[in-house]
Amino acid sequence: MIIQKERKSFEQISTELLIVGVQKNCDHIKGWKEFVSFYGEHVEKWIRTGDIETERKKLTKIPYLGANEHLQRILFVGLGDTKTLTRNELRDIFGLVGKKLREMKANRFTIWLESFTADPIQEKDIAFLFAEGSGMGFYQVPHYKTTSNEPEVYLDEVQFVTNADIDEIVESYKLGKIYADAVNEARTLVNLPPNILKATDLAEYAVNLANNYGFEVEILNKEQLEELGMGGILAVNRGSTNEPRVITLKYKGTEEWKDVIGLVGKGVTYDTGGYSIKSKTGMVGMKGDMGGAASVLGAMKIIGEMKPKKNVVAVIGATDNMISGDAFKPDDVITTYSGKTVEIKNADAEGRLVLADAVTYAKQQGADYLIDVATLTGGVITALGYDKTGALSNNEAFFDAFIEASVKTGEFVWGMPLTERDKKRIRDSQIADLNNSPGSDGHMIFAGGFVGEFVENTPWIHLDIAGTSDTTKPHELGPKGATGVMVRTLATFIKDFTFHI
Ligand code: BES
Ligand code: ZN
Ligand code: ZN
Repeated sequence: MIIQKERKSFEQISTELLIVGVQKNCDHIKGWKEFVSFYGEHVEKWIRTGDIETERKKLTKIPYLGANEHLQRILFVGLGDTKTLTRNELRDIFGLVGKKLREMKANRFTIWLESFTADPIQEKDIAFLFAEGSGMGFYQVPHYKTTSNEPEVYLDEVQFVTNADIDEIVESYKLGKIYADAVNEARTLVNLPPNILKATDLAEYAVNLANNYGFEVEILNKEQLEELGMGGILAVNRGSTNEPRVITLKYKGTEEWKDVIGLVGKGVTYDTGGYSIKSKTGMVGMKGDMGGAASVLGAMKIIGEMKPKKNVVAVIGATDNMISGDAFKPDDVITTYSGKTVEIKNADAEGRLVLADAVTYAKQQGADYLIDVATLTGGVITALGYDKTGALSNNEAFFDAFIEASVKTGEFVWGMPLTERDKKRIRDSQIADLNNSPGSDGHMIFAGGFVGEFVENTPWIHLDIAGTSDTTKPHELGPKGATGVMVRTLATFIKDFTFHI
């Protein structure tokens, strides 16, 4: 993708499409007069008559017939009252612009940054939010339609009309693009069919990431997991003919391997429920049960690009949860990697078993802080719906810092309680240390709390993304399907986190 390096005026731009922010009264926008004389005075009339809509999130596409023969069309983007415009809303608006760019097959475009400024959102922020929002909005789910003759569209070339420092603008835009690209790659991992993306494929993707960004990488296969005694992930994998993998990536941003943040992802590439089999409708969509792994890998991609002075270890437990004559089943007792034993009450509560071993491994690899991400329970959907990620934590300061990052990225996270009484329920087994499914009340808390048993005293945040990882409806920032939730928040959190807790 070409990003312009020098300043442009309206007369100089050579592009298919110019993107302009509009509101009821545009007079205070720097350069508005210049734009009106460039485009023609009827633009002001059209705004008054509503032919160019200024309402927030309304887009109006109009041909350009003026003197600049290189410019074909103008896309007016309604901002509404800019006094109430937030960064998160502006990102959403740009998401809709990204969708429009795909629809119009416009791959060469120019954005007039000043027309979007709204105190305190500066041009640099706008360049970032535009790249991030439009990049996500532009995303398309990969498909296998043999009859489709839709040509592939790419965002090829962007130019800016701005008076701000162009180097700073370009830097900002590139960073936003890095965020969007990482989210979109995570989405694709989740959207891929389960016969195409297996644990071995997830591992291959991680190895490629490591090669691109210089991460240390280790892939443990079934035999190695057996030698190590990772009884959690191995129990889940027993019913499958596909091998499991435990994937570890290390990013070293400082001399010393200290203050290490551990990211742990659930990578269940398909969840049938095992012998606690899901219903025929409940099973559909369970290719997305590796959403946590995808979020972690997406965040690692951003880390690899940004190279912050932080240390990160990512551990992903990857397997599918299938059925066979040898599959694990309710009433089994298993021994996890930590040595803790678990009475299996429900083979569909498999994510926590995979996470248990991955968390123990991450601690062994030096994690001083832990964040696990998983499509773990239907319970979180019942509690919070499809637009909020449910969280648990054992450390308030650590959690508050995370919430701060999530507010910046606009990915809603809500903390749930984990009480001593809940922990007792998780430990309630006559024959083992833990019970993997203590009851159908408070699912989300039991599942996350179970992972907490392996975290012990390490500062920890659990993120249940079962509701937020996939959508059944298109939204501003993307089509229906995987959302890539938490990729941006995890990366932002790691970049900004100061170890003062
Ligand atoms: N992968 C599911 C959770 C899930 C549900 C993800 C809906 C995405 C959408 C998880 O492994 C599971 O089956 N959880 C059970 C737990 C129960 C058996 C204790 C659930 O939530 O019903
Ligand atoms: Zn399950
Ligand atoms: Zn699952």
